[in-house]
Amino acid sequence: MRPLAAFALAASLLVTSNAEDTATCGAATYFPSEYSCYNDTALCPTAYSLPTVPCSGSGGCYAPQSLSCNGGILRTLPKASSPFTLTAFGTREPYRNVSVKACGNYLAIGANARECTSCTGVGPGVQCSSYKGRTVLLPDGSMAADVPGGQYWYVDPRDGVLQFTKAANSTSTAQALEIPGREFAGQRVTVYENGFFEYDSSSHYWLACLRTLPGGTIGTGRSWRIYSPSPSNLEFKECEKIKLVATAVDRKQGAYRYE
Ligand SMILES: *[C@@H]1O[C@H](CO)[C@@H](O)[C@H](O)[C@H]1NC(C)=O
Ligand SMILES: *[C@@H]1O[C@H](CO)[C@@H](O)[C@H](O)[C@H]1NC(C)=O
Ligand SMILES: *[C@@H]1O[C@H](CO)[C@@H](O)[C@H](O)[C@H]1NC(C)=O
Repeated sequence: MRPLAAFALAASLLVTSNAEDTATCGAATYFPSEYSCYNDTALCPTAYSLPTVPCSGSGGCYAPQSLSCNGGILRTLPKASSPFTLTAFGTREPYRNVSVKACGNYLAIGANARECTSCTGVGPGVQCSSYKGRTVLLPDGSMAADVPGGQYWYVDPRDGVLQFTKAANSTSTAQALEIPGREFAGQRVTVYENGFFEYDSSSHYWLACLRTLPGGTIGTGRSWRIYSPSPSNLEFKECEKIKLVATAVDRKQGAYRYE
């Protein structure tokens, strides 16, 4: 159980350098970009553009992506069991509520991040039209892909980047197991059902860092790749701290293959 942010009703919340108009919540004044007011009595802080909400009876605020509140009792959400899409939330506008997409073996966000799926060379019985072609991950480290051998998402332990494995070219189990990255599938990440997708560190945020897409010319077609917040990655330029939120979806929202 994580510590709770207490209800904050003091006017000392005001940050004087902010030009934003203030609002009132009961007797308190607050910045709407930083807090939400509930019932004119409770102020809860916003983090990564995600509002926290009061848990009535507990006297605290909680992130519904992490905890649930029932009769004043807060509980950690269950670990995810459903296939899910990922959405990024950052403090600044371009990073708020944007879909994470799979392309070129990386998971990325941003206007140039593409969903690169295909359905070619499939066996009989595969109905390409049945796939929605969205980037859908499973909590066990696999992706919602039906290519023989499957595909897997992982955090590369060398550089901490969030990637996915190439599709195997044969149905041989031995070959599928040898695909680089397969051995790290799902490691060091905890996924909560309709909640946070968290890297196993004390901070639980990710870094979205501007990178040129594979095959792209520098300065064009760049997207934000997603990195774990290791000390060396925190020194990158052009990165934004984000939280990743899993939303349960049907596995059929996925693809036959991610390219
Ligand atoms: C809001 O205030 C009303 C009246 O005091 C109370 O009945 C209600 O339970 C409160 N709702 C929440 C969410 O605290
Ligand atoms: C994110 O955007 C979708 C629509 O694109 C909306 O339904 C949803 O409420 C948004 N979520 C948050 C937390 O802002
Ligand atoms: C499958 O074949 C293509 C083209 O020959 C190659 O680019 C790709 O890397 C191969 N994939 C694997 C997993 O070996």
